[in-house]
This record gives sequence, C-alpha cells and structure tokens, in this order.
Amino acid sequence: MAVILVIEDKESMAQMLSQALQAEGHQVIVARDGREGLQKFKESKLDIIVSDLKLPHKSGLEILEAIKEHNPLIPVILMTAYGTIETAVKAVKEGAYDFITKPFDPDHLIHLINKALEKQRLVTENLILREEFAKHLKLPKIIGKSPKMLEVVEKVQKVAASHTTVLLLGESGTGKELFARAVHYLSPRKEEAFVAINCAAIPRDLLESELFGHERGAFTGAVARKMGKFELADKGTIFLDEIGDLDLALQAKLLRVLEGEEFMRVGGTVKIKVDDRVVAATNKDLQAAIAQKLFREDLYYRLAIFPVTIPPLRERADDIPALVEHFVNYYCKELKKELKNFSPASMELLVRHPWTGNVRELQNCIERAVILTDGPVISPEHLGLRVKELAEAGLADLPMEGSLQDVSSMATQFAESRMIRKVMKETGGNKTKAAEILKVSYKTMLTKIKDYGIENP
Ligand SMILES: Nc1ncnc2c1ncn2[C@@H]1O[C@H](COP(=O)(O)OP(=O)(O)OP(=O)(O)O)[C@@H](O)[C@H]1O
Ligand SMILES: [Mg+2]
Repeated sequence: MAVILVIEDKESMAQMLSQALQAEGHQVIVARDGREGLQKFKESKLDIIVSDLKLPHKSGLEILEAIKEHNPLIPVILMTAYGTIETAVKAVKEGAYDFITKPFDPDHLIHLINKALEKQRLVTENLILREEFAKHLKLPKIIGKSPKMLEVVEKVQKVAASHTTVLLLGESGTGKELFARAVHYLSPRKEEAFVAINCAAIPRDLLESELFGHERGAFTGAVARKMGKFELADKGTIFLDEIGDLDLALQAKLLRVLEGEEFMRVGGTVKIKVDDRVVAATNKDLQAAIAQKLFREDLYYRLAIFPVTIPPLRERADDIPALVEHFVNYYCKELKKELKNFSPASMELLVRHPWTGNVRELQNCIERAVILTDGPVISPEHLGLRVKELAEAGLADLPMEGSLQDVSSMATQFAESRMIRKVMKETGGNKTKAAEILKVSYKTMLTKIKDYGIENP
C-alpha cells in the first residue's frame, strides 16, 4: 500500500481517482488546489504525488519544483490536457516521473503509479546500497551460548519489536555493530533501510551534512542537494556508531531530532521530519565524558533508555570454541582452502588468550592462521599470539587486564616458555633431556615447545 497525494481541482475527477486508487489498496489524500497540495505534501508522509498541471493558486510545474526541492526522490506524475502536453514534456525534463494525458483510463494511471513506486524503491535501495551497506544485507549469524551472551541476545530480541532507542555499550570488537543490525532485522522495520554512520570516521565539518543532508551550494563543494542519513533511514533504522565522538554542537542538533523535532538540511530552509528508529553505540565511557563536559547529559539520557552492554570476550571464554569454528569454516571457504582443524594445544591457547581486541581480534587471528597453514591442522605457531613475544619481554610487561584467571594463565605461560627456552639452550636442544629436567613427559614437552613456538636454540 502506498500513500498517494492527488492534486486535482475538478471534483468529479478527484473523486473518480480516489475511488480507483483506494480500490487498489492505496491511501489517498486529495487537495483541491496548488497551495493546499503543497500544504498536504509538507504535513504528510507520502509515497507518490499525482497532480493536475493546471491548477488554481499554483501550477503543476511550481508544485513539482517545490516538491523536488524538498524531496528529490518522491515520484510526481502530472495529468495534462491536450493543450498542455508541451509543458508536461518540460516537466518530465525537470524531474517529473511521467505524465498522462486526459482523458485516461484509471488502469493506465495505476500502472504508471506501480512502475513509479517500484522504481523509487530501487532508487532508495540503491542509494542505501551504495552507502557502506552492500556487504551485510542480511543479518550475520550471532555466535555464543554463554550465559552472558544469551542475556544480551534475549534483551535485544525483546527490545527489537518496539520503537525504543537502544544504546549498545562494549569494548572495541565485541559485536556492537552486529547487534545493531540484529535490532533492525528483528524489528517490524526489517524491510526498510538500515543506515549506519560512524561518527568518529567523518570529519566534523562533513558530519553534519552526512547526518542531515545539505542543499546545493550550502558550502564549497556542495554541487548538488544531498539527503542525509536521517532521511535515508526514514521508516527504518539509523545506527549512530561511535556516538561518544560526536562534538557538542552536533550533540545539540541530534538531541532535538531525537526529541521528535524537525530539522533542516545544511544550508536549507525546508523543515524535514523523519521517522527513524535510533540505535547508538560507543566503546567510550559516556559517564566520564559527561563529567568532563564532553558529552551532554540530556542526550545521554535520551539515548540510554535501553542500554545493552556486550561483555568482553575474555569474560565469556566458553564462546571461543564456537566462534573459532565459525570463523575457520568461513575463511577456509572464502580463501578456497581445505577445511582445517585446530590442534588441542592451539585451541587451548585460543581459549586462554585475553583477547583485548575481542571477537574482531579473534576473527583476524583465525584468518591469518588459515592463510599461514598449508596442512590440515592449525598449530600454535600459526596463531601468532603474544605468548611468544612475551617470552622475550620481562614479567613487568605482562598485560594487567582481564580476569584474575587470565592474568595468572598469562604469567604461567610466560614463566613456562622462559624456562623451556632456558633448559633447551642448556641441553643443546635435547628434548628428552629437557623433559627430564623439567619433570614432564616427552609428549608434554613436545606440545609445549610447539605451543610456545620455541625453535631449536
Ligand atoms: N557473537 C558473534 N558472533 C559472530 N561474529 C561476531 C560476534 N561478535 C562479533 N562478531 C564479528 O566480529 C567483528 C567485530 O564486530 P563488530 O564490528 O560488531 O564490533 P564493534 O563492537 O562494533 O567493534 P568497534 O567498537 O571496534 O567498532 C565483526 O566481523 C562481527 O561480525
Ligand atoms: Mg563498530
């Protein structure tokens, strides 16, 4: 169903069109002259406009111009009598979708409308596709069955159905963007656009126009009108990533928009109202930013209606094996390599690693390992984890992060790898002797040597 504005001064014609379009399941709004037409255009959310060319107060051409000024994407179909065909042709050149000559069969108009709607849908989709979106049209799989992860998933599932603003918090690489998409694809808006914008990646001067759009000539380089992300995400979801990096002036404008106020494109005079579901994310401590007067408290409360914190990977090590399996399958397929397994030692290393870069770091590690491994088994040296570097470093360099268990496991690995290196050197690389000295089995010795990437001295 589409919402159609019909601007037609002749009562009988307006009625006939209304009935025909309503019979097709569309919602019809009728205006009886140009001025009323523009008024209704501004106050309603429309999908298409059908306007007579000759109208009291404002002509169809003037209406077309005003509409295109406001929303260049909305299709306008003009109805024309014989005498005005030339004007209609001119109108198409100026951006009207098409024209239809009176008298006409309503079915012909309906056909035109359907075509226009289909084209408009493609244009909108394409616009969004071109924006950073192409890669992940669908929701990627969310892996994780640890209690902490299940809690997050359940929260997201519950909030998705509503219109509520969601604030995703968590360290870098924990999956904030993934969950932002989940909110959208689990919501009734899933057929509409999901538009992401990274507030930290765009220079401040450009960010306002990226968010809210700009008019032609608004600044040097603004050669054409551009819709902002808020307009592109209309009826869908806008994902404001790295919201903690937004500067104070834009925070103020954003707050007004979130409170339902209209906004103007940069350099614009027309007020725009959109219906966006907002999901925001940050890895910053917003409370601290508020204390430092870098983040507006009122905006924080507006965003944090429903906060969801994604726990760091080291707090849900149970999820690691499943994530590893998921990524190894993915990369073996993508890199066209035979499917690989992990040696028990490398899996253990993966599970115990503190993963300060969270799932993203794990993902990169697996990708690298798949590239580096020629055979069917991935062993510790393919993982390139920090244990090896640490062996060369001092105890003071051990990262003080993660749980107590993480820290002590790192310290153990550190001490073991130092000790094995020392003994291997003393024995001239004799593994049997080294095992004897260290009081471990020969097999354990071999595993550890591999794990810690110790070459023969
Ligand atoms: N639970 C999960 N299951 C599967 N893949 C995941 C999971 N969590 C994260 N990923 C993957 O890890 C990578 C990083 O996730 P994402 O980009 O969502 O993190 P982020 O929190 O937005 O990070 P940053 O703060 O650095 O932007 C992505 O490729 C994502 O698909
Ligand atoms: Mg992110």
